[in-house]
Amino acid sequence: MAEPADQHEETMRLQRFLARAGVDSRRRCETIITDGRVTVNGTVVTELGSRVDPRGDVVKVDGAVVRLPEGFAYLMLNKPAGYVTTMDDPHAEHTVAELVPVDRYPGLFPVGRLDADTTGLLLFTSDGELNQRLLHPSHHVEKTYLALVAGTLTRAEAGRLRRGIELDGVMTKPARLEQLEEERFRDPRRLSRIVRGRWERLSISEGRTHQVKNMFKAVGHPVARLHRSAFGPLDLGDLEEGCWRELTPAEVDALRRAAYEEK
Ligand code: URA
Repeated sequence: MAEPADQHEETMRLQRFLARAGVDSRRRCETIITDGRVTVNGTVVTELGSRVDPRGDVVKVDGAVVRLPEGFAYLMLNKPAGYVTTMDDPHAEHTVAELVPVDRYPGLFPVGRLDADTTGLLLFTSDGELNQRLLHPSHHVEKTYLALVAGTLTRAEAGRLRRGIELDGVMTKPARLEQLEEERFRDPRRLSRIVRGRWERLSISEGRTHQVKNMFKAVGHPVARLHRSAFGPLDLGDLEEGCWRELTPAEVDALRRAAYEEK
């Protein structure tokens, strides 16, 4: 597995730092730099590719110190299997807290949860209000999962999952389902047995416990592997397993819009 936090960039380009600190637009910040108005640790820096460490370097524009705003943190992690979604569980062998920089971002917690054996996109924030909003039943954003299931669903079974099926006496909401490629895998209950199965892409707008596994089980196709590829407007992209990254400002805006949009 890749090293988690160590791979993350500690430094950022000077023009991005200035723009995020609210000095001006990125384009105008480039001009401010090339005009010689910026110092880093007392030295004038005019080169646009220069990088700064927001935690250690002292950056000034026209002699005034510039800092990044101290707001909420928003990160995504590509969760590996074998990690429990909790920031503190003395009984768990491994928790997701080991994989994100809790010292650097105080108050960080996961938004919802993934089962220990589920991989993929897990969002973290220190923004309690947004967290509540994202998880509230009336605003649940759509989440997309790739599930490797035994066998091939019939059209009728796929239709039931799409329209909604009863789980614990309550119908699931309409879902999107797409059948992907076939794969052979070892039966998790009898490792000597090779099972033929298929990857299914399921998008749901709810967050009931073990919902995806229970939905496929209810139509007779147990899930062998589960991976979350998208959470609302956020896509895991090519983030390596075990690694995290900060959301971009555009991603945070999109997430807020999704959370506050009336459904
Ligand atoms: N549904 C599940 O069954 N498990 C997960 O981890 C997430 C959604």
